Amino acid sequence: MSRIDTVAENRIHKEGDGFDKEEIIDDWQLDMNFHVFSKHTLQTISAQDTLVHLECVEQLTPVDMMNLANGEHDATGHCVWTGAFLLLDALGVLLEECFTEKRILELGCGTGIGGIGLMCAHDKERRPSYVLLTDADPDALQVCQRNCQQHNKLPKNKYGIQELTWGEPLSPETLSASFDTTLATDVLYDIALLPPLFQTAHSALKANGLFVLSHVPRACYSSQHPPVDDLDQYIIDQATRSGFFLHRHIVPNQLPRAFRTEGSLNEPASLSDMQEVGASLFVFRKTPIF
Ligand SMILES: C[S@@+](CC[C@H](N)C(=O)[O-])C[C@H]1O[C@@H](n2cnc3c(N)ncnc32)[C@H](O)[C@@H]1O
Repeated sequence: MSRIDTVAENRIHKEGDGFDKEEIIDDWQLDMNFHVFSKHTLQTISAQDTLVHLECVEQLTPVDMMNLANGEHDATGHCVWTGAFLLLDALGVLLEECFTEKRILELGCGTGIGGIGLMCAHDKERRPSYVLLTDADPDALQVCQRNCQQHNKLPKNKYGIQELTWGEPLSPETLSASFDTTLATDVLYDIALLPPLFQTAHSALKANGLFVLSHVPRACYSSQHPPVDDLDQYIIDQATRSGFFLHRHIVPNQLPRAFRTEGSLNEPASLSDMQEVGASLFVFRKTPIF
């Protein structure tokens, strides 16, 4: 039961016997569970001659923030986040090694911007052979599905969409040890989620596979976790404990800005602003023997 349902029930108790829960919810004419005030719009992101069309919300509402803070619902997957833009900026330097002709698993894909960006960007010869877009939030995956369908040139056999929560077992036939590269952008806002994130990335990868993690330091805290002084080092240590070693570390100042946003989507942070807040892009390699 959501927090708002609980509020509605309290109101029933206060207002006495004349009402039942159904009547009150009908009076309000509101969806009690999700995105009461959000509005999805269609946005366009362009990089050179590539256009990516994305349905998304421009920002989270106070209701979304409240639900996120109290653990009721994570609606972050409906926005496009700075870490995804950092990935788009870095494609020029990462494409050949990490993505071209590779089987890719995206973790926490949200709107699908990362995976769709890979599938649309650059010439056909430099694209992945297959991208599986995954997220824990089925609502975000529906948006992601519609976003994939916006691009009618994407061949249906080149991508898949699947619900996947980090740390949960992967289905052996389809997922385990079958990907060349795993990808996650801007997914670290609860530091307690690092171990299951690395665990899933590790089990999904083939030997020597790569994990591309585009990271923007946010309020990386958790009630279950003590504060961390050096977040980058903490992520690297956690990766090492999870069977990876650091292969490349790219910071925003090393990159050119590679894309533009159109429409009402806010212009994302500049590369120098990303640098200033400590955003960076890690490429980890799966340790051969672990
Ligand atoms: C801040 S959004 C980032 C979305 C997208 N990658 C981007 O950069 O725009 C974080 C995403 O991670 C997903 N997520 C959070 N915790 C997760 C978990 N434990 N397992 C799988 N996905 C999770 C959320 O549902 C959300 O879509």
